[in-house]
Amino acid sequence: MTPRPRRATRRRGATVFKKCAICHIVDSDKNKVGPSLNGLFGRKAGTHPDYAYSAGMKAAGDGGLVWDETTLREYLHNPKTKVKGTKMAFVGLKGDDDISNLIAYLKQYPK
Ligand code: HEC
Repeated sequence: MTPRPRRATRRRGATVFKKCAICHIVDSDKNKVGPSLNGLFGRKAGTHPDYAYSAGMKAAGDGGLVWDETTLREYLHNPKTKVKGTKMAFVGLKGDDDISNLIAYLKQYPK
């Protein structure tokens, strides 16, 4: 038996994204309970136009937080530790593989 490959896959990422989809849209620029995640990578935190962010998220962006693979991984592991005062009511994702797959999925939707 060969071990399962641990390469990130978009297909698995789509399954992980179901946990985000109650609050986020990624395939268009529409905001929901949370801001759209369309074109997320390279975006400064708290800067989607027309979305009412928490003061904590805006302060994180002003403090230099930009979404890339590293910062998103840290945020998803534990949202409230990475961004003090965030109003994102999500416990976080524990599995690194889940996050890698999710990142591969999200990257399919650049601006
Ligand atoms: C219960 C609803 C909810 C769920 C589930 C949720 N989020 Fe959020 N998310 C929010 C809210 C609300 C905000 C705005 C946070 C703020 O202003 O502090 C947010 C903010 C974000 C941001 C910051 C975006 C920006 O423009 O700066 C990212 C990135 C993000 N969420 C990713 C995710 C991902 C990926 C998942 C799934 C693993 C997820 N969220 C699950 C509600 C949610």
